[in-house]
Amino acid sequence: MVLPSATRKRPPLGRGEEVSLTIDRLAYGGRGVGRHEGFVVFVPDTAPGDRVRARLWRVKPGYGEARLLQVESRSPLRTTPACPHFGPCGGCLWQHVAYGAQAAAKEQIVRESLAHLAGLREVEVRPILVVASPWYYRNKMEFTFHPEGGLGLHERGAWDRIITVQSCYLQSPASNLILSLARQWALASGLSRYDPRTHTGLLRQLIVREGNATGEIMVVVVTTAPEVPGLRELAARLLAAVPRITGVLHGINPGLSDGLPLVGLAVLAGRPYIVEELAGLRFRIGAETFFQTNTAQAERLVEVVGALADLRGGELVYDLYCGVGTFSLALARRAGRVCGIEISAQAIEAARQNAALNGIANAEFTSGDVRRLLPEVRSRTGRPDLVLLDPPRGGAGRRVMRRIAQARPPRIIYVSCNPTTLAPDLRDLVLAGYAVQAVQPLDLFPHTYHVECVVLLEAPT
Ligand SMILES: C[S@@+](CC[C@H](N)C(=O)[O-])C[C@H]1O[C@@H](n2cnc3c(N)ncnc32)[C@H](O)[C@@H]1O
Repeated sequence: MVLPSATRKRPPLGRGEEVSLTIDRLAYGGRGVGRHEGFVVFVPDTAPGDRVRARLWRVKPGYGEARLLQVESRSPLRTTPACPHFGPCGGCLWQHVAYGAQAAAKEQIVRESLAHLAGLREVEVRPILVVASPWYYRNKMEFTFHPEGGLGLHERGAWDRIITVQSCYLQSPASNLILSLARQWALASGLSRYDPRTHTGLLRQLIVREGNATGEIMVVVVTTAPEVPGLRELAARLLAAVPRITGVLHGINPGLSDGLPLVGLAVLAGRPYIVEELAGLRFRIGAETFFQTNTAQAERLVEVVGALADLRGGELVYDLYCGVGTFSLALARRAGRVCGIEISAQAIEAARQNAALNGIANAEFTSGDVRRLLPEVRSRTGRPDLVLLDPPRGGAGRRVMRRIAQARPPRIIYVSCNPTTLAPDLRDLVLAGYAVQAVQPLDLFPHTYHVECVVLLEAPT
């Protein structure tokens, strides 16, 4: 809402001014939030309870953004970061905050997003499900070769600078060994590295995927061109040092962005996939297959969804944005029929393979845009008993919410990795007559501000 200029309150502070304030919470995006004479100020690298001095670099009518100058008194919620790269490295933002306080902040973020962005002030948000250990939890890491010789993760806020990572606490120690062997090999090889500023150079990324439950590891070396002298030697060295490696692959990406898809993929050693186990199911994961990144906590996510779905055996279930079928296959064991919809043809192929691998015959998968396919699937199958959706970070949006409401499922389960896009989607479903019955946040990504959330909605009876 834009206020007329006569009534618009002027910010009490100007750009460049210094303020002293107490941080009272952490916000989605990672920064701490404090108030100066009621005026909201965001300050990075802070913890709830810190008294800090900060300088404003941006002032908007409703809030200011400031740089941290000094922590005048430390919050008892602060802790010593485990990682030597913490700070400059863009991988983790909250290692300086005790894990329990990180989790509490995420629960609060869910509650406030639902209250402020969806008007859902009365709904009960269940206590967040925390991880057993906040270290070594990721099953996939993407490291980048730097033109000046390093191999590591992006510097915080920088697309063209890389921190040379000696050891990372997000993936297993085996991954750190692979990282160091690849760095040594690259240095000795004298091969050029891709420079995103000039789009020149050969070595681009090192991707390590690991089955947390099976221990299998896949290494993918991504380069900009197919001819890479010495790559098989690297593969042999990695296999000798880490016997758990089941495949070393060579991916080719000559494009402008680091993101997939690759234009070519060759097997240097072993096989082109790892097997991971989740919720009693086996999944084949290739170099480019999307898969939940924290296997142990994804298992709890599937459990939460299963408990809220409360299937009796004959239901028709839609799994929208189904990826490789994680939820579809888990729910198919207790449903009559599951229909998965997903835009990535490759993920749909993997979902079908995963269904076959697990002997599941009552799950079918269609590739395409949910917006377009949902009405089609609805007219083919009749009214679904349950619609599950797990959209990307940007949310599903108003049109999809309308189409879901038009399909008239008695129950909806919304799995979200972004409470700020979840909330407006929920508001649309509530306006369409659905009532929020349960909200369960889960922490899948310790030391980051990301939070997963499962919401059950029911149509009025
Ligand atoms: C958060 S992931 C869900 C993953 C899935 N639940 C799983 O565990 O494998 C979101 C998925 O939505 C897919 N997607 C994005 N936009 C889509 C669209 N418009 N229609 C269908 N699928 C889409 C992405 O390819 C991605 O696989």
